Amino acid sequence: MTDKRVILSDESSGKSVELPVIQGSEGEPTLSIKGVPGELGYFTYDPGFTATASCTSTITFIDGGKGILRYRGYPIEQLAEQSTFLEVAYLLLNGELPAAAEYDEFLNDITYHTMVHEKLNTFIKGFHYDAHPMAMMAGVVGSLAAFYHEKLDMKDPAARMLAAKRMIAKMPTIAAACYRHHMGWPTSYPLNRLGFTERFLHMMFSVPAEEYEVSEVAARAFDLLFILHADHEQNASTSTVRLVGSTGANPYACVAAGISALWGPAHGGANEAVLNMLEQIGSVANIPKFVEKAKDRDDPFRLMGFGHRVYRNYDPRASIIRDAAHEVLNELGTSDPLMELAMELEQVALKDEYFIEKKLYPNVDFYSGIIYKALGIPKSMFTVMFAIARTVGWVAHWLEHCDNPTPIGRPRQVYSGPAERKYVPLSQRD
Ligand code: SDX
Repeated sequence: MTDKRVILSDESSGKSVELPVIQGSEGEPTLSIKGVPGELGYFTYDPGFTATASCTSTITFIDGGKGILRYRGYPIEQLAEQSTFLEVAYLLLNGELPAAAEYDEFLNDITYHTMVHEKLNTFIKGFHYDAHPMAMMAGVVGSLAAFYHEKLDMKDPAARMLAAKRMIAKMPTIAAACYRHHMGWPTSYPLNRLGFTERFLHMMFSVPAEEYEVSEVAARAFDLLFILHADHEQNASTSTVRLVGSTGANPYACVAAGISALWGPAHGGANEAVLNMLEQIGSVANIPKFVEKAKDRDDPFRLMGFGHRVYRNYDPRASIIRDAAHEVLNELGTSDPLMELAMELEQVALKDEYFIEKKLYPNVDFYSGIIYKALGIPKSMFTVMFAIARTVGWVAHWLEHCDNPTPIGRPRQVYSGPAERKYVPLSQRD
C-alpha cells in the first residue's frame, strides 16, 4: 500500500470513498476497490478483467507498452540466451536461480518422477485414435488425482512442492503417450539417462524397430521454446488455475482446468490456428485479400498470432522465436514456404494503418508453429507443447496462491434478465 489515496465520490448521494493506492515493485499503480460496494453501494464492471488485478504476484512481470517480460526479475532475453528450461522451472518455482547442488537435486527430482502409473497408459488407449491430443491431455491430467488421492495434503508445503514437480515431470510423458496412441505406436517410457527435452523427443519419436538418435538442434530448439512459454503472469489459463486453486481443488484438477483454458484459439490454441491460417492464405499474392478480411469487423477472420491483451508493442518472445525459426530451418537444411509467407504477412500487417492504430503485433504464437512443424510435431500437438511448458507457470502460481491465498474467486455480474414473475402451470400456458 502507498500513502496515496484516490477519492471516488457519488454526486447523487454526496457520499465518497477513499481508494487506497497499491504500488507493486514494478508496474502501474493500482486502486484497491474493495471498499466501493460497502461505502458507495456500487459494484465495479470490467468484463474480461481488462483493467483489474486479481492478485499480487512475485513471479513474472510484463510491461506491455515497452515489450518487457521478466521471470523473477530476469529478462526473458537473458534466460533464453543463457539458461535451460529446468533451470527456469526451478527459478519460477523457488524465486531464485539454483546453486549447483540445488540444481542437481532438482534435476534428479524431476527425472525420478517422469513415469506414470501403467493404468494411465490403459486410460489413454481408451481414446479413439483421432481424439484431439488436448482433449486427451485435459482428461488424463485431471485423472492423476485418482492415482495420488491419499497424498493430496495441501496443508503441507513439501507435499505441494512434490505435486508441482510431479506435474512438470509427467507432462512430457503423458503428451508423448497421447501422440503415440494417435500414431498407433506402442507406449514408450522415459529414459532417465537423457535430459528433459531429449527424453521428451525420444518418448515422442522412438520406435522399437530401430535406435532413435535425438537431434541436438531439436533438443535445443525445444528447450528455448519451453523457456519462452513457461509463464506469462495472469493470462487466461493461469488465472483459471488460480481460480480453481482458490476453491481448494487439488493441483491436478487445477492444471487440467488450465489445459482446457489454454486450448482456446484466442489463447494457446493460436499456434495451431496460425499454421491453419498460413495454409489458408497459401501464397504471398493472397496476403492483401486476407489482411483486408482481418480488418473487416463483419468478417470473423482474424490474423491469428497477432495482437495481445497486454503487449501493445512487440511480444519479446515473438522476435526470439522468429530468429530461432530461421536457425532451425538453416541447421536442418530445410526451408518452409510458410516461413516466407509468415514474414511477408508480418511486414504487410506492420505497415498497415489498422494494425498500427490497434497496436497489433505478432505474439508468441505467430512463429512457434513453424519450428514445431520443422521438428516433426503435427499441428494438433502444437498447443500440447505450449501446455508442457506452461505447466511450470501454472504450478508456480498454484504454489504462490497456496502460500498466500486470496479468498475464493467469485466475480459478481450485472443482472439484465427478467424481473420477478409468477410461475404459470403448464396447463395454463398456451
Ligand atoms: C496468447 O494473455 C497472455 O499472456 C496470453 C499469452 C500467454 O503467454 O499466456 O501471451 C499467449 O494467448 C497469445 C495470444 C494468442 N492469440 C491469438 O493470436 C489470436 C488472435 N488475437 C486476438 O484474438 C486478440 O488479439 C487477443 C485475444 C489475443 C487479444 O484480444 P484483446 O486484447 O481482448 O483485444 P480485442 O479482441 O478487444 O481486439 C481489439 C481490437 C478489436 O477491434 P475493434 O473491436 O476495436 O474494432 O483489435 C482487433 C479486434 O477486432 N483485433 C484483431 C486481432 N486481434 C484484435 N483484428 C485482426 N486480427 C487480430 N488478430
